[in-house]
Amino acid sequence: MEIPPELITFLRSCVHAAALTGAGVSKESGLRTFRDPMDGLWAEYRPEDLATPEAFERTPELVWEFYAARRLKAGEVQPNPGHLALVEMERHVPHFTLVTQNVDGLHRRAGSKCVVELHGNITRVKCSHGCGVFTEWEEISGKAPTCPACGEKLRPDVVWFGEILPGDELATAVQAARTCSIFFSIGTSGLVQPAASLPFLAKQNGAMIVEVNTEETPLTPSVDYFFQGKSGEILPELVKAAWG
Ligand code: OAD
Repeated sequence: MEIPPELITFLRSCVHAAALTGAGVSKESGLRTFRDPMDGLWAEYRPEDLATPEAFERTPELVWEFYAARRLKAGEVQPNPGHLALVEMERHVPHFTLVTQNVDGLHRRAGSKCVVELHGNITRVKCSHGCGVFTEWEEISGKAPTCPACGEKLRPDVVWFGEILPGDELATAVQAARTCSIFFSIGTSGLVQPAASLPFLAKQNGAMIVEVNTEETPLTPSVDYFFQGKSGEILPELVKAAWG
């Protein structure tokens, strides 16, 4: 892979970088993406049956079953070289914000420290009534468990379609997009808002935009550099080229 020397120079001197990741970054760990036409989760299941507050009201057991299987799988797999390259990048860039749409927890398990989880985390559970109870999944039992504080249904701590994102996380992500000098969009189709707007916000504020994806996306025509391929191969090469 050819990495332009001016990109390497820019990376070496960069003080504030941000990255947005999506399901593609965990694909090489063995987790399914959402929109792959062959094996994407949304090719097999309908999101409106499993990933909306209405679905949870109708059939909480089904929703728990879907997330329990995904949580189990996420716990079985390991971070891949793409996750590890982002840990390395964080070590070299003084201010590095990693914004992820992934709920699998693999960035933290890899060792990334400044991780903003825009869509929640599948290892956690919260009260669906908003009484403020959050707990680790291991600590609950049953097919549709209830909140120990208020008796309402517990639910996975993930963002569903039609829900607003956690405010602090979104504010941190927006701030990082506004202030970074380089923004990476990695393994995301860029189809889900508001995450999909972050690279455009970064661009409006003067950042260089770099995309890593196996396919072109709606963002591709707007980027400065597009690296087509697997993040588990491209990111380690980028990091090696910049910091040896
Ligand atoms: P998608 O499934 O929409 O997109 C995955 C992207 O990863 C695609 O653009 C693929 O081309 C790319 N890709 C696949 N393998 C790759 C690899 N090895 N290296 C690099 N890129 C690769 O997943 P997201 O963009 O994450 O939201 O989806 C965004 C949100 O939609 C998710 O967070 C989820 C989903 O519905 C909620 O559940 C709220």
